[in-house]
Amino acid sequence: MNLPMVVPDPSLPTAVTIYEVGARDGLQNEKVTIPTEVKAEFIGRLIDAGLPIVEATSFVHPKWVPQLADAGELISRLDLHGSVALPVLVPNERGLDRALEAGCDHIAIFGSATETFAQKNLNSTLDDQYAMFEPVVSRALAADADVRAYVSMCFGDPWEGAVPIPQVVAAGKRLLDMGAYQLSIGDTIGVATAAHVGALIDAFGAAGVGVDKLAMHFHDTYGQALANAHASLLKGITTFDASAGGLGGCPYAKSATGNLATEDLVWMLTGLGIEHGVDLSSLVATSQWMAANLGRPSPSAVVRALGTPAS
Ligand code: HMG
Ligand code: MG
Repeated sequence: MNLPMVVPDPSLPTAVTIYEVGARDGLQNEKVTIPTEVKAEFIGRLIDAGLPIVEATSFVHPKWVPQLADAGELISRLDLHGSVALPVLVPNERGLDRALEAGCDHIAIFGSATETFAQKNLNSTLDDQYAMFEPVVSRALAADADVRAYVSMCFGDPWEGAVPIPQVVAAGKRLLDMGAYQLSIGDTIGVATAAHVGALIDAFGAAGVGVDKLAMHFHDTYGQALANAHASLLKGITTFDASAGGLGGCPYAKSATGNLATEDLVWMLTGLGIEHGVDLSSLVATSQWMAANLGRPSPSAVVRALGTPAS
């Protein structure tokens, strides 16, 4: 059996967009440096598997994230004008200059909901992060690029503990209101549980940010990512970030492990009869191929269940 029986739940959305982050969130945290041509092939395979959006890399400081220091070179090997959007992370104007020079027209900024993580991840205070992102967004929009905003540490922070919901809503709204088309709610260290997810989505709704503006970005540190995705579906969320094979983590957040595996999400959506457009078997083959390049097996339960055992 390589697909679940389909039993739709009429209370859930009928279609979902999967925003694939494996090439960025996945590879930014790997110990081994992946050659640029392998990254380009990975992205090509993800596109071929039907992923509609594939985040490609980050134009961050190469010393901060050496694994993605080849961002410009990688982008030059990709088709930026194909049917699949290939967004890139940009923290500041220097990053935007590099991204625009490379021809990118889908930009993602990434803010923090907490003071400590703003300092650790962006070398900025929480307040100053907005001043850093404002010119990035306005210049990107003026250059006809679209902008997505991430907000991290939405459920818990390794240094500050639980993060109050109003604090997350205030930070997220401020980033979104700069002109982003979507806000991705990050459970950077994977501590969220289902009712907390529902409460945060409701709080955004009460603040005027509806589910059409939100995406959910779960890491699976405590095995809650799929349950949290289901809780989000019940609230009407239709965009989910996920990472092929469950790759991922944040080098500046201890205890951040892999993202929700795209295969695990696809299995659940398929069973629920929710359209997603992804070919599961080619995705599994891609994650197995990438696992071989990384020298370790995929943590995804679905990849392990469906993959060809290594001989
Ligand atoms: P900084 O050291 O404070 O930078 O880093 P600065 O502005 O003081 O500049 C220092 C030097 O760096 C200057 O060069 C700049 O030109 C250069 P100099 O004049 O000394 O020769 N520089 C750059 N060079 C290339 N590209 C750039 C760049 N910026 C400055 N973009 C900075 C501040 C924000 C750059 C740094 O902290 C940084 O790169 N942080 C990124 C960290 C990161 O990528 N983290 C992982 C992504 S976030 C994540 O994974 C969470 C997410 O998945 C959601 C979730 O799970 O919650 C999105
Ligand atoms: Mg992440």
